[in-house]
Amino acid sequence: MPYARIAAVGSALPERLVPNAEFEELVDTSDDWIVSRTGIRARHFVGEGETASSLAAQAARNALDAAGIDPSAIDLTIVATVSGDQPLPSTASFVQDHLGLSGGAFDLAAACAGFIYGTELAAAQIEAGRAETVLVCGTEVLSRFVNFRDRTTCVLFGDGAGAAVLTPGDEPGLIGSILQNDGSHARILEVPAGGSAEPVTEETIREARDKIRMPDGREVFKRAVVGMSDAAAALLDKKGFSADDVDLLVPHQANVRIIKSVAQRLQFPMEKVFVDLEEVGNTSAASVPIALDHAWRSGRLQPGNLVLTAAFGAGLAWGANLLRWTAEAPR
Ligand code: ACO
Repeated sequence: MPYARIAAVGSALPERLVPNAEFEELVDTSDDWIVSRTGIRARHFVGEGETASSLAAQAARNALDAAGIDPSAIDLTIVATVSGDQPLPSTASFVQDHLGLSGGAFDLAAACAGFIYGTELAAAQIEAGRAETVLVCGTEVLSRFVNFRDRTTCVLFGDGAGAAVLTPGDEPGLIGSILQNDGSHARILEVPAGGSAEPVTEETIREARDKIRMPDGREVFKRAVVGMSDAAAALLDKKGFSADDVDLLVPHQANVRIIKSVAQRLQFPMEKVFVDLEEVGNTSAASVPIALDHAWRSGRLQPGNLVLTAAFGAGLAWGANLLRWTAEAPR
């Protein structure tokens, strides 16, 4: 049975950087409040012509270039997103078209945990011998789904994409994963309108029901800390590793206070935790692959490192991947 490894990662952030100060003109908030409660100072928002698929394609191109893999080698494309280009067809179809890819392609909706889910599915296809080279993207344009009159959510999110190319390897690259979902809390973080249950009408638009709602941010915070740390600890235990064995924890970048609490529960010193949310914000499914790319290209991720990723978000969906990093730093 072949193993599956990440051959390279890539990312793309829109050019437009939106500092906290811009929100002071929209809602009753302040740069101080946002920085102290979340750690976020700025986030990127798309400009004219940029979409979830164009960002994903750019991130994928960066990953393919770094891996030295021709796009024609991709035989499966998985795009994790909750803010895709349009309801029909899949955003993966547009990514395929941007890059001239062939093979199967589909979208995966597991919110902030989407890349964790996608990596596990991609590795399973490779290990089963059913695919050779799989592209996994996490991409979001959450600025289109944010209610700019709701201060409790609008300051949190950003746009961006990350991608990984997975190929067969001689040794385990993806050592294991944990995937979890608790649908009984599906309403805790949602966009109620815009689907078949509640099509968009003038009224839903007036009430911003086609935008992100999070009535109890504190509850989401608490569940995120417990979900990510429990999944990470259970995965380490299942695979016979301890926190000491891990070289780098790359958590979902929602809130630096969530990340610090997760690290504390796992007894990880913050020096072994990667944080890039200060100028990225919460990019949901794109958050972990963007962070992996930033860690890799800045030299924080070296071949041979044991890497633990964990994410938590709407669904509620959460999970973790444990990886032996095998990719040489890109030149
Ligand atoms: N500016 C100023 N004040 C604000 C803002 C803002 N942007 N947002 C909320 N407040 C106010 C609240 O209205 C409240 O005021 P009140 O006491 O008069 O009612 C006060 O600040 C405290 O509100 P809390 O919700 O208790 O603040 P908290 O410290 O919990 O921080 C936050 C709020 C940042 C949303 C936090 O709960 C959080 O990060 N939760 C996780 C949510 C999250 O990350 N969701 C993203 C998707 S899921 C995921 O990625 C994990």
